[in-house]
Amino acid sequence: MKIYKTRDYDGMSSKAAMIISAQVILKGNSVLGLATGSSPIGVYRRLIEGYAGGDLDFSGVTTVNLDEYRGLTPENEQSYRYFMNTQLFGHINIKPENTHVPNGIVQDAELECTRYEDLIRKLGGIDLQLLGLGNNGHIGFNEPGAAFIPDTHCVDLTESTINANKRFFETADQVPRQAFTMGIKTILQARRIVMIVSGEGKAGIVKEAFFGPITPNVPASILQLHNDVHLVGDEAALSLL
Ligand code: F6R
Repeated sequence: MKIYKTRDYDGMSSKAAMIISAQVILKGNSVLGLATGSSPIGVYRRLIEGYAGGDLDFSGVTTVNLDEYRGLTPENEQSYRYFMNTQLFGHINIKPENTHVPNGIVQDAELECTRYEDLIRKLGGIDLQLLGLGNNGHIGFNEPGAAFIPDTHCVDLTESTINANKRFFETADQVPRQAFTMGIKTILQARRIVMIVSGEGKAGIVKEAFFGPITPNVPASILQLHNDVHLVGDEAALSLL
């Protein structure tokens, strides 16, 4: 694992954006795995600047997002599809048909999971997966539990995640109780992983995830087994390492 310590959120964002930019420059038809949440917003801003400045071309890039709430339409402002369109896709020259997010409003959850897993396989797998880290150690929506779940699946969100994410909704009641997420194997099969962490609130879980035991109680701990992980964090988030 490579660890990059930056002064603050902006530094984290620009460092991670540089790694992603290098990927896109070196392989124009990269498959990027993307995340939502607070952590990647600055990264996406930098990628948009790179595109606007003429340094980055996304016309050959394909993206697959980690997760999506179950029950939210793409037009819903809290859906991850909406987030991606507004925070990144709408501002760069990626082809809309090359952007993929699990479909939150399908009837048949199992079918959607199989479709998404097949899609990633048909794309040839993920070249670079961007990850944030949940306060409880989750990656995507792989929540702490008794076992690592390998493939894309539909999960019941934990109280901790509902609480952490209610800041994006008017009330906690509005936070969906289920979500689709890539599985642990799907994520681990990405050829490169870039995890971004910011703020002292993440310091404890960063230490547990990367220097504690590998356990499904801390889903991110499985990343210790991946051979190309880049952990990019600000001083506060990396303060306990
Ligand atoms: C979102 C996702 C989640 C977040 C995690 C951290 O697509 O996969 O695992 O990365 O909850 O969220 P933030 O960045 O808001 O702290």
